[in-house]
Amino acid sequence: MQSLPMTTMLGSTSKLIMYENFWYVINPSLFRNVLSIQKHFVVKDKDIFIAGLPKTGTTWLKSLLFATVDRTNHPIDKSLLLTHHPQELVYNLESDVYNEAFVYPRPNNLNELPSPRLLSTHISYTSLPKSIKTFGCRILYICRNPVDMFVKKREINEYDQDSLTLPRLEDFFEDFCEGKVIFGPFFEHALEYWKISLEQPYKVLFLKYEDLKDYPSNHLKRLAEFIGMPFSPQEESEGVIQEIVEFCSIKNMKELDVNKNGVINNFFEKKSYFRKGEVGDWANHVKPSMVERIHKLMQEKLEGSGLSFKVLP
Ligand code: A3P
Repeated sequence: MQSLPMTTMLGSTSKLIMYENFWYVINPSLFRNVLSIQKHFVVKDKDIFIAGLPKTGTTWLKSLLFATVDRTNHPIDKSLLLTHHPQELVYNLESDVYNEAFVYPRPNNLNELPSPRLLSTHISYTSLPKSIKTFGCRILYICRNPVDMFVKKREINEYDQDSLTLPRLEDFFEDFCEGKVIFGPFFEHALEYWKISLEQPYKVLFLKYEDLKDYPSNHLKRLAEFIGMPFSPQEESEGVIQEIVEFCSIKNMKELDVNKNGVINNFFEKKSYFRKGEVGDWANHVKPSMVERIHKLMQEKLEGSGLSFKVLP
């Protein structure tokens, strides 16, 4: 560890360590969890992963993926999502499985999960275990316009357990622009998965939160095809896609008792995963000068990649 770069986030006590060009929190030791995954995780060909930075819509994608895969076992009115939080149905590798910090019931044996196993991770493509890259498993990557994402991240700086006060928006912004984002930098994280989605479209499906909001049914259809479980013409005509979309909408998920009370991993309030769920909420928080700076940074970072986000109205 001593040979790796470390930094402290501005206006906060969170210390980060850089491993394979991406930042991890030192306490709790996300970094060690990543090493455990690299060393011990045994992939299965049919595994389906959700990847993405925190606060980019991963919980929503978990509900959509779970409901789609499980549709032949349970009709939507009997869905396990009525009795389980999405985080309890699609385990996160570094927080729920290979996590040294928490003691709570967890699937010690990933082999007991039904096939296809649905798993999630915030880890960069670079640091995924090699087997995930070489085996036939699929990855759904979700990304969100960087301004919305950074506003949300600051609102719940979830790993900053030592600090009771939120970092100033300006400090958080400065860190964000310098790439000091847990599991980030933001752009590099997105660009890695973006590149693989272009080179190996059967391996990575790259989704944007904003697109999902605009055309949920179209993207759910793409998702189902990508994982090899397309909706049949009969399902389409019976409105199954629309049913799943509506069931997984933030309005519905927020109202379910199972998502209102209790905590995940002895720490995160279940209801905190469902907030406003709007696109462009940054306009209520961020100064025009910040938007301009991030817009420039985005142009610089994304130039020539074909990846873009709408930020300025
Ligand atoms: P806001 O903070 O903008 O409300 P993640 O799950 O990756 O942490 O992302 C959290 C963001 O996704 C939050 O955004 C949350 O409200 C939003 N979200 C959660 N469930 C959603 C759903 N079913 N539909 C749309 N957005 C959802």
